[in-house]
Order: sequence, then C-alpha cells, then structure tokens
Amino acid sequence: MTIALVTGATQGLGLALVEGLAQRLGPTDTVYLTGRDIDRITTAVGSMPGGGAEVRGELFDVADPGSADRLARQIEERHGGVDIVFGNAVMRVGPDDNPREFIDTYTQVNNFGTTRLLRAFAPLLNDNGRLLVVASSLGTLHHLAPVLHKRFTEPSSLDEIDRQVADWRDTTKEGLVSAWPAFVNIPSKIGQVAAVRVLANNAGEPTWNAAS
Ligand SMILES: NC(=O)c1ccc[n+]([C@@H]2O[C@H](COP(=O)([O-])OP(=O)(O)OC[C@H]3O[C@@H](n4cnc5c(N)ncnc54)[C@H](OP(=O)(O)O)[C@@H]3O)[C@@H](O)[C@H]2O)c1
Repeated sequence: MTIALVTGATQGLGLALVEGLAQRLGPTDTVYLTGRDIDRITTAVGSMPGGGAEVRGELFDVADPGSADRLARQIEERHGGVDIVFGNAVMRVGPDDNPREFIDTYTQVNNFGTTRLLRAFAPLLNDNGRLLVVASSLGTLHHLAPVLHKRFTEPSSLDEIDRQVADWRDTTKEGLVSAWPAFVNIPSKIGQVAAVRVLANNAGEPTWNAAS
C-alpha cells in the first residue's frame, strides 16, 4: 500500500503529478489530490482518467497555519504514514504586480507553507519514502547577490530559514532599497531549496529532495 500526496494539485504540474502517480500505482494505493478550494478539487478529481491508484480529494490550504498539521494527523490516523509527498503549491504572480501588495500572502503560500509541510509530514515518512519540494532553476544561489548567500547557507533549522524569509518579506514590504532581487520568485525558491537542504542535513540521510 503506497500513500502519496500532492499540494496545489487542482491544475498545472500538481494535477499532472497526481495523474502520473495514480497511473503508476495500483488499486490498493491512494494519491491525495489537495487544494484550497473544494469545487476545484472535485473538478480535478473528476478529470482523472481512472485506473491505477484511488485518487482522493482533500482540502489543504497551505497558507492556513494549522492545515499541514491537521492533514498530517488525519493521514497518520488513516494510513499510519505516508510514502510520497510533493510540495508543489504556488501563488503565481505576474511581472507587473507590486511585491509590496502580495508579499505577505506570497511568503505564506510559497515559503512558510513549505516549511510547515516539511515539519508536519517528515515525521510521517515511511521507510524509503520521498518528500519533494518543486522548486525551479531560480532556486540556485548564483541568482542572488553574494552578500546574501550566507542567509541561506548557514541556517541549520527550518526556524532559521523562516526568519531569513521573514526578513526578506519585511524589507520588501517596507520598500527598502537592498541587495534583494526585484523578482520575488528568486529568494522564494532559494528559500525552499535551503529548507529542504536543512531538513536533509538534520536527518543525516538523503530522504528529502528538492526538485528544480
Ligand atoms: N510553470 C512553470 O513554468 C514552472 C517553472 C519552474 C517551476 N515551477 C514550479 O512548479 C510548481 C507548480 O507550478 P504550476 O505552473 O503548475 O503552477 P499553477 O498552474 O499556478 O498551479 C498552482 C497550484 O497551486 C495551488 N495553490 C495556490 N495557492 C494555494 C494555497 N494557498 N494552498 C494550496 N494550493 C494553492 C493552485 O490552486 P488554485 O486552483 O486554488 O489557485 C494551483 O493548483 C510551482 O512550485 C512552481 O514554482 C513551475
């Protein structure tokens, strides 16, 4: 029995991941298709071609501070653990949007949502399980001014990563001139990759992966 879960799975890559996982798994396995809107979840589950694993819809708004822990407890009660978790949810922003107006929500979804997912689901991972965060090629440090690198290379805990992201968020909100890049996707993705690295280093074994 394999249990998989994908966040932000109502469309795009998340939906494709659910479909791909379900096709590769069998009828005794379950793939959780999660999202923040029950109608979009129901539509997405209904769009699955069938066959393979059971695809089960579940509400999971990653921006809601309590949601990762709540869902992790439910999954633990139902299945005892989890085998595959994809952190994929993203708040998309356009190049013309003003970061000062969306940075709070953006970091809640993309960064604090990711660290909450890692904290909640890492302890539930079964042997040979996989916990993946979908990042991007923008998540590499060479996109960041060298003066900022140690903010993401030195932390040894998810709390420290959260503090660095909060610092960047606050600088952005205040509209301060700084070394941070104008494109918010860069620090956000670097923060996601740093969070996965911290978790992997603390675990002492390569159970966690950052996909780019
Ligand atoms: N597309 C690309 O070219 C590209 C390139 C590099 C990396 N990536 C990465 O790949 C991942 C998926 O990207 P995508 O292009 O498939 O994105 P997308 O089409 O915009 O889909 C994003 C998904 O996240 C969900 N979401 C948004 N806010 C949420 C929240 N608070 N809680 C739960 N789910 C939420 C959306 O649900 P709603 O339907 O409710 O909005 C949607 O299902 C992201 O991490 C992205 O950064 C994408």
